[in-house]
Parts: sequence; C-alpha cells; structure tokens
Amino acid sequence: MQLIDGKAVAAQIKKEIAEEVLQIKANGGKTPHLAAVLVGHDGGSETYVAGKVRACEEVGFKSTLIRYEDDVTEEELLACVDRLNNDNDIDGFIVQLPLPKHISEDKITEAIDYRKDVDGFHPVNVGRMSIGLPCFLSATPSGIVELLKRYEIETKGKHCVILGRSNIVGKPAALLMMQKGYPGDCTVTVCHSRTKNIKEICLQADIIIAALGVPEFLKGDMVKEGAVVIDVGTTRVPSNKTKSGFKLSGDVAFDEVAPKCSYITPVPGGVGPMTIVSLLKNTLLAGKKAVN
Ligand code: GUN
Repeated sequence: MQLIDGKAVAAQIKKEIAEEVLQIKANGGKTPHLAAVLVGHDGGSETYVAGKVRACEEVGFKSTLIRYEDDVTEEELLACVDRLNNDNDIDGFIVQLPLPKHISEDKITEAIDYRKDVDGFHPVNVGRMSIGLPCFLSATPSGIVELLKRYEIETKGKHCVILGRSNIVGKPAALLMMQKGYPGDCTVTVCHSRTKNIKEICLQADIIIAALGVPEFLKGDMVKEGAVVIDVGTTRVPSNKTKSGFKLSGDVAFDEVAPKCSYITPVPGGVGPMTIVSLLKNTLLAGKKAVN
C-alpha cells in the first residue's frame, strides 16, 4: 500500500507556480491577482479563505480579501461581483460558500464573469469541462486528477466508483474520470444516497472516490484488494485529542481500508492540500487570459 502524499505534491506544485510567477515578473508581466469575498464569520469558511490568501502570498500572487457581515443584501453582493468583474487588476475571484440563506448562491455564481471564475462553478465552465474545452476546473476534482497523474496511477479501462453526486465534487469528478485520455478513460459508476447495493458496486471498483461527507462510510469489506481509494471527506468531528476540540474525519475507515489498497489518500494531508493548489493553478491561467 502506498500513501498518496497530497501535502508533498501540493508543496511541489506551489514551488512550480512560484517559479513561473518569478518568470512572469522578470519578463515585465502582470502579477496574478486573486480576490476572495467572505460573508459572515463561519469558522470553516474563515479557515479556508485564510488558507487561500496565505497560499497566494507563498507563490507571489497578489490577493485581496473583501469581507461582508451576514446581513449583506443580495443586491450589495451582486454589486460587488459586478465591480470585481470589471476591475482589470483582478484576474480571478471567488465568493466563499456557503452564503447566508437570504442570498441565492446560484444567482451569485451566475453573475461572476466565467473568465474570472477561478472556482470553476459557473455553468459555462461546468459545460466546457463536460465537453473537454479549456475551462477553469473546480478545485477538488482537479486536485484528484492531479494526484492520479503525479503518482502515475493507471486509469484506462478501470472501473471508477464515485460516492456522492454533488455539483462541486461527485458530478465533475465523474465527468473527468470518463473523459478521453489520461487521467480518464474510466468506466464510471456514480453512487448516492438512493443507490441500492452500494457495497456490491464498491467491491467491483478499481478506483473509489469517496465524496459523501459521511465519516468512515467506506469500510474494509467494501473494497477489493489492490483498489485505489481517494478520500474527499472532511467532516469536523468532536475530539478531545486536539486543541481546537475537533478533528477532520474522512469518508473512509482508513485503518480497515488501507491494508487492502494499492494507493490511498489520508485525511488530512491527501486531497485537501490539493484544492488550494487547484485554485492557484486557475488563477495563474486567469492571469494569462488562457480561458476566454
Ligand atoms: N466552500 C467550500 N469549498 C469551496 C470552494 O472550493 N469554493 C468556494 N467559493 N466556496 C467553497
């Protein structure tokens, strides 16, 4: 069994991006600039956005954090999106989700200029991804395929079972794994909360991508010998062993599943660190105006 070290791969890719940014600057080019919009004070969102801003600094990007309180109106937020769409210094931006209930996330997402949508959530980017055109890939699926590539894991003709059908992980991961070429060319099955016989389906999988958000859902008896297991779960569960009072739990019962795998991602330190790197890659592309 080989552990897929997302933290190390992410550090390596950040180094590659930082080198490219130095080159761009040396050639008189524009420093890539990411803006992040954060509404309210949700603990998870605060942590994620702080990580994104820190990562920008690490690779030499410019970053701008724009904050609103929970009571910001949809109109105010749409006006902010409009300003960022038209700000020539901002190459790409994100509006951190979730948003307060009185604001439509779909409306905000659709208002973002798809050429600055470095989250890859805009319908134009989702549509382009599904037919294999240049686009901003959403962070988690992009991080997963990057890990498969860096570890040279064979995907052609493999049966890939995806647990979860969310718009930001399950669905796009299914599209990427079935697309022509590498990493892709898989036969894909998507399982979700209404699927019957999940255990039997998982037992047929060469590659399992677990993205349900149910801690330790995938048990040892659901995985065949030699499978590749990618754990996307990051549920905060209470813990008396950490200072913060919680720990991150994956969707995979790691201790049972790992001995059966050829490759497996840990939680934390697997897919998680790759998601910020995907955002940096998209911002670099946005800076180069590579998606138009
Ligand atoms: N909330 C959880 N993950 C994400 C993400 O990748 N982008 C944004 N904008 N919000 C999120």
